[in-house]
Amino acid sequence: MAAVLKTPGEIDLMDRANRIVHQVLDAVGERMIPGVKTRELDSLAERIIRDAGGVPAFLRYRGYPATLCISVNDVIVHGIPGENPLQEGDIVGIDCGVFYKGYCGDAARTFAVGRVSEEAKRLLRVTEEALKLGVAQVRPGGRVEDIGSAVQRHAESHGYSVVREFTGHGVGTSLHEDPQVPNFGSPGKGPKLKPGMVLAIEPMVNAGAPGVKMDPDGWTARTEDGSLSAHFEYSVAVTPSGARVLGIQI
Ligand code: MF3
Ligand code: CO
Repeated sequence: MAAVLKTPGEIDLMDRANRIVHQVLDAVGERMIPGVKTRELDSLAERIIRDAGGVPAFLRYRGYPATLCISVNDVIVHGIPGENPLQEGDIVGIDCGVFYKGYCGDAARTFAVGRVSEEAKRLLRVTEEALKLGVAQVRPGGRVEDIGSAVQRHAESHGYSVVREFTGHGVGTSLHEDPQVPNFGSPGKGPKLKPGMVLAIEPMVNAGAPGVKMDPDGWTARTEDGSLSAHFEYSVAVTPSGARVLGIQI
């Protein structure tokens, strides 16, 4: 199926939705304190979203039971908030989706709890850089795999690997729309980027091997080798002049 193109007015609404998402990420990022339970972070997020007039986009999506995905250490994505307290040295991926006036915002960051290892810091830095390099590929006439190839090149040049089983995606009136946006690929390949497309670009980078294993809960995706994993995501509109990252000034 072809990607749904959005008008400038719709893109402004998606910017509003993503502003709420980034407000949540800022607030949750302030609570990255040893002893805080991930369920408490989820409650904080839901309160901020509802106070802003939004609706959590992940809650009940395909039966998902929470507002946030909270993915600690070797969890790649889709960790379910619960009673586990954060510990000094953890890295914690926070992924948040919000519907506002019918439009979806989707973004993620990975945070450090207190002092973390130099290796963890480097993984966070490289994954965020990979996201920004992917965004820098966005322009009308470009191709979807230009994004993934930039992400992959940056991650692999640091000895890391990109996850294949999960991808970025189009986003709009639904959380997931066409096209898929893989974190790997070849320049010049894949669907053509057009003004009005909005893409959730979301590198998932493993410190070790790319393999994924699922927990029995059916959601929590971990690195097969137990290595750390990081995840950063922006919702990005393709405009006539290039990328517009939604909800945040970068
Ligand atoms: N950012 C993720 C994604 O776009 C989060 C989805 S979590 C789910 O796939 F619970 F909604 F599935
Ligand atoms: Co997403």
